[in-house]
Amino acid sequence: ASDSNPESHTENSKPQTLQLALIFGLWYFQNIVFNIYNKKALNVFPFPWLLASFQLFIGSVWMFFLWSLKLQPCPKISKPFIIALLGPALFHTIGHISACVSFSKVAVSFTHVIKSSEPVFSVVFSCFLGDTYPLNVWLSILPIVLGCSLAAVTEVSFNFQGLWGALISNVGFVLRNIYSKKSLESFKEVNGLNLYGWITIISLFYLFPVAVLVEGSQWVEGYRRALVAVGKASTFYLWVMISGVFYHLYNQSSYQALDQISPLTFSVGNTMKRVVVIVSSILVFRNPVRPLNALGSAIAVFGTFLYSQATTANKAKKPEDEKKS
Ligand code: 3PG
Repeated sequence: ASDSNPESHTENSKPQTLQLALIFGLWYFQNIVFNIYNKKALNVFPFPWLLASFQLFIGSVWMFFLWSLKLQPCPKISKPFIIALLGPALFHTIGHISACVSFSKVAVSFTHVIKSSEPVFSVVFSCFLGDTYPLNVWLSILPIVLGCSLAAVTEVSFNFQGLWGALISNVGFVLRNIYSKKSLESFKEVNGLNLYGWITIISLFYLFPVAVLVEGSQWVEGYRRALVAVGKASTFYLWVMISGVFYHLYNQSSYQALDQISPLTFSVGNTMKRVVVIVSSILVFRNPVRPLNALGSAIAVFGTFLYSQATTANKAKKPEDEKKS
């Protein structure tokens, strides 16, 4: 899930507040659980390509389960729908795997601080595609860039692969959003849950063959080491399983939230989610945080809020421009 996600449909005029609060609560909780267990698994089994593929696999099985038991209506699958999904799913795959590579190299909190700079990428890429933004939007991304830079240079766990992974993840998710907006325009009747389900299935087909090429030769040895490190095979399986189930669940919740709120409300919610995840992961993993690092992270997150405000003000002025973000 990410900022300015255009798979959203329209904002519900009478949002069912309680249901929405429940979806948000679930989204945050599931995201925290995913981040913790994904990192626990990566700490003993540092093979993000396999873990990321497994997470997509669990999501695919989950969707087949929902569809076959008719717990969720299966959308009509047509060739144009699948073709329209190929691009968004490819960028989703890039966003997911690069985030996982980043998680495997640096503290979870650092990856999320860098990922909070997603609006910067959104603005820059949209400009390449011909959109224009007023000065206040550009000014709002300055604290994001400065805050992330300060957080990066003071990060104890700093590592270039970790930084690049998080940055590429931003590129992947922003391109997914921009591309989805165009290619999925005529499939708006497909709900968020089903849409995410199909993106997951196609992403698995993209990711797994590459995962085999990238790190397949090291999996068996890595698995042996993981068992030695954890001590109990069932504990290791449990961590991996939880990371897979909660990866799918939190994305599903976020896509369900998107069905009911505007991309901008979603973007603020996503930033709040990062704050909650950053704090929880620091509490769980007890990774050292220097004061300047905390300051940089806070400035970056604050910049994301300013960005949301500036974009909202911009849209209020140009309501016909609602879709740009
Ligand atoms: C992933 O693995 O896809 C990342 O956890 C994505 O992070 P986000 O959903 O918080 O953007």
